[in-house]
Amino acid sequence: MLFSLKTSFLALSWYARMQADTLENQAVAFFNPTVGGGSMLDSAAPPLGEPLNVIISGLSSPAVLTDSGFLNFAQAIGFSTECLGIHLGAPQSANLGDGNGFVNQTVELRQDFGDPDLGTCLESLIGGNHLRVFRQNGPLANSGALFLAVSKEEDVEEGHTIVPDGYDIGRDQLVSSAVGTTSFGGVTYSTAAQNLTGLLPVGSDGINHDIAIDGIVTLLTVTIQ
Ligand SMILES: *[C@@H]1O[C@H](CO)[C@@H](O)[C@H](O)[C@H]1NC(C)=O
Ligand SMILES: *[C@@H]1O[C@H](CO)[C@@H](O)[C@H](O)[C@H]1NC(C)=O
Repeated sequence: MLFSLKTSFLALSWYARMQADTLENQAVAFFNPTVGGGSMLDSAAPPLGEPLNVIISGLSSPAVLTDSGFLNFAQAIGFSTECLGIHLGAPQSANLGDGNGFVNQTVELRQDFGDPDLGTCLESLIGGNHLRVFRQNGPLANSGALFLAVSKEEDVEEGHTIVPDGYDIGRDQLVSSAVGTTSFGGVTYSTAAQNLTGLLPVGSDGINHDIAIDGIVTLLTVTIQ
């Protein structure tokens, strides 16, 4: 009796240890920022924010989640670096609940209208789709996922603000150009989309430019072929 109790205890603690190891090493799509005191709205014009309406899953191919790898993927779906490296507007920051607190965007990219070198200059003039990238990699929630604030902008005459419904439209346009098979620079991607509700609020409360959102976040899993 004593012996078997001891054996079961040992077996149990071994099992618990295995579980802990597995959890620690297990890759995840992302962690909900609000659990760690963060938010799915970035800080744009405090207290107002813009929705982080697309997540590149931490289960994507690791290369896609690096700065250069994401840029290549973004070019495959019609985005590129800002016009001649000229940046319009201040950076935004986000708290992804990963223990890093507020961190500025790692990069801002614009729709390139088919020309990765100069097309974004056109976006700066005539408006178009636009994204900011935040990486969830702090010690409390190191998923490696990229959180994107996507929005469609007016032209420069309108002061480069967001078009009506511009957050949802920007998200849907980005997602439709990403889903399926795309390629750039000799790399081919296969991308799957899943809509998530309950992470973002619905409506315009707390949203920059008073533009209502439908509350959907699209999770993209990007796999290099
Ligand atoms: C973001 O960048 C701006 C401008 O470079 C800087 O003033 C600000 O302190 C940065 N914010 C964070 C949270 O790092
Ligand atoms: C996600 O939601 C958008 C907006 O309602 C919709 O257009 C799109 O088809 C949905 N995508 C998926 C994969 O369900």
